[in-house]
Amino acid sequence: MKYFPISLISRNSLRALRILVITMAITGLIYQFSFNIFSPYKLPYSIQDLSSLEILSHSQGNSDIKTIDQPYQRANATFVTLAQNKDLYSLMEAIQSVENSFNKKYKYDWVFFNDNEFSPEFKEIISNQVSGNASFHIIGKEYWGYPDWIDLEKAKKGREEMAAAKIVYGGSESYRHMCRFESGFFYRHPALNNYKYYWRVEPGVKYTCLADKDYFKYMEDNDLTYGFTLSLIEFRRSIPTLWNTTLDFIHQNPQYIHKNNLVEFITEANMTEYNLCHFWSNFEIADLDFYRSEAYSKYFDYLDSQGGFFYERWGDAPVHSIAVSLFLNKTKIHHFDNIGYEHPPFQSCPSSKKTRLENKCFCNPRKSFTWTYKSCVAKYYEAQGLPRPPFEKDTQKVLMNNE
Ligand SMILES: *[C@@H]1O[C@H](CO)[C@@H](O)[C@H](O)[C@H]1NC(C)=O
Ligand SMILES: *[C@@H]1O[C@H](CO)[C@@H](O)[C@H](O)[C@H]1NC(C)=O
Ligand SMILES: *[C@@H]1O[C@H](CO)[C@@H](O)[C@H](O)[C@H]1NC(C)=O
Ligand SMILES: *[C@@H]1O[C@H](CO)[C@@H](O)[C@H](O)[C@H]1NC(C)=O
Ligand SMILES: *[C@@H]1O[C@H](CO)[C@@H](O)[C@H](O)[C@H]1NC(C)=O
Repeated sequence: MKYFPISLISRNSLRALRILVITMAITGLIYQFSFNIFSPYKLPYSIQDLSSLEILSHSQGNSDIKTIDQPYQRANATFVTLAQNKDLYSLMEAIQSVENSFNKKYKYDWVFFNDNEFSPEFKEIISNQVSGNASFHIIGKEYWGYPDWIDLEKAKKGREEMAAAKIVYGGSESYRHMCRFESGFFYRHPALNNYKYYWRVEPGVKYTCLADKDYFKYMEDNDLTYGFTLSLIEFRRSIPTLWNTTLDFIHQNPQYIHKNNLVEFITEANMTEYNLCHFWSNFEIADLDFYRSEAYSKYFDYLDSQGGFFYERWGDAPVHSIAVSLFLNKTKIHHFDNIGYEHPPFQSCPSSKKTRLENKCFCNPRKSFTWTYKSCVAKYYEAQGLPRPPFEKDTQKVLMNNE
């Protein structure tokens, strides 16, 4: 049977419906009232019930963050996502997760990049989900193509060799363009000119705690430049000459190395070797002015001139991490141990139970990658000379692996 269009429902039947609803409500009240007369020692339980209902609706909203009184003085910051039309649904999940855990409260803007035109459907659906202002931009060919000094034959051979060696994305051209864009170009795009901090979000990621504060403001208030959650070890075969190329750059430009750097996090044997540790850059909250700096831009341009983004498969994670560790005062780097974050197949879950309770986390700390022996987070704390964040017995077993 088809539904009636609302215009066909007559006024009379609407009125009848209203009377029916009111009658039912009154009947219910009389029933409750009579019930209370027979149990005189109880408060009318409807009052208690109402308040517990309210509590219930609050706690049901646990997956949701409470909004704050507007107007709110936001930091100079935006979310940034690189995506394609085919990512629509996995991106919606990621955005929903960011909105529920953080952004509904603060309403930061969101900048979207694509190497092709976003479809009208994509823009409509995504703008509707973002609580701040969303904007959509095409990446120019100058940021997503082969520069003229690249030997295309050599690049093709490099891809074929890596594909044969079964390196993840080893044979992919678009993955290489993406890594190069995320290394050297996103921050040069005019869409980001008016922002200082950015938070990177990729399709398919999930946030598993409620934010306990405005993390952009936290970066600003603490004069931080780079924030991360997960840290892993890179595939050596994807970056055979990255470190040597970096050393060449350093020897030509020693002035960029910060006196109080974090080089111990990324190197062994008196800097002769890169230990493959890197911040997993699919999550990062960073000061774009660092990337815009002379040191970083020149470093990227030098790397780019050597062709490793195409001949090998240099990722933006080791490139960002090496630069951050060399060029920054290490006090400007921060591990967000209070954020629950998942980018399959890895996730970080706060190791402190107190934090998990306070931030209403729904992640399993035993599944957290952070303190496993393949993670570089312990190495990070060592290089910073900082004590590890607190943890409880239930995560201790995982921690022992790292001793
Ligand atoms: C979105 O942009 C409009 C126009 O620039 C501005 O008035 C509004 O405050 C912005 N909204 C948010 C949430 O930033
Ligand atoms: C935001 O940051 C950018 C980059 O640092 C800067 O150019 C811009 O003036 C800042 N905007 C405001 C309102 O402070
Ligand atoms: C890196 O440079 C060192 C010293 O110049 C050299 O021995 C080594 O073979 C180089 N490694 C690669 C992968 O080119
Ligand atoms: C690094 O930053 C700290 C403050 O965070 C400062 O006290 C120290 O002097 C800085 N180190 C250098 C070498 O600039
Ligand atoms: C580390 O290398 C530098 C120069 O590259 C050298 O001056 C220094 O003596 C080396 N330190 C050790 C412990 O080998």
